[in-house]
Amino acid sequence: MKTVIDILKFYEELGAEYIKKINIKTKKEQLEEIFNSVKSCKKCELYKTRKNPVFGEGNADAKLMFVGEAPGKDEDIQGKPFVGRAGKLLNELLAEVGIDRDDIYIANCLKCRPPNNRDPNSEELSSCFFYLKQQISIIQPYVIGTLGRYSTYQLTNEKGALGTLRGKVFTFGKIKIVPLYHPAYLLRNPNAIDIFLTDLKRLKELIANA
Ligand code: URA
Ligand code: SF4
Repeated sequence: MKTVIDILKFYEELGAEYIKKINIKTKKEQLEEIFNSVKSCKKCELYKTRKNPVFGEGNADAKLMFVGEAPGKDEDIQGKPFVGRAGKLLNELLAEVGIDRDDIYIANCLKCRPPNNRDPNSEELSSCFFYLKQQISIIQPYVIGTLGRYSTYQLTNEKGALGTLRGKVFTFGKIKIVPLYHPAYLLRNPNAIDIFLTDLKRLKELIANA
């Protein structure tokens, strides 16, 4: 679907001077700018030990966004979110309910890997939240599925266990927030996979009504 920005860009390319002055940036270009700031970010200590920052990836016009915790070993090496074991399971479960990874956007609370996959600390989370908020405000998804307790806490302020938060819908501004189990938790607790699939189906229904 062509957005207003696409149409303005078309006229800008044709050389319409008054449009050039407005300095239009596509969502993709805006995300690229934030990514560039992340590449040189030193707001917390994690930049010292990371191999690559993991900014996030996917469709800049996504109606559905997922937010995880932090890059793990494979993500740190490849610079991409959810490419390791947890990511593969996530892909399989998304496919099972008919959610296409090409239609969604995936990011994490932290853009750099905590050493040995330790839990993020509150200083790191608050330092990095700026970038996540920018991503959300550029993409403007209709729903965000928060994977695990850290992203759920960041976007809802709810500190409860996922077992009690899942199944509920919160809001972050105008955006609906749906807490979900983290795929790494599902690897350790495969009996929770059915609940996760139920939650993904509900997410799909929410988007269908968008
Ligand atoms: N776990 C996360 O929270 N994010 C990733 O990108 C990979 C594993
Ligand atoms: Fe910056 Fe976030 Fe990386 Fe910390 S984790 S250095 S705040 S990008």
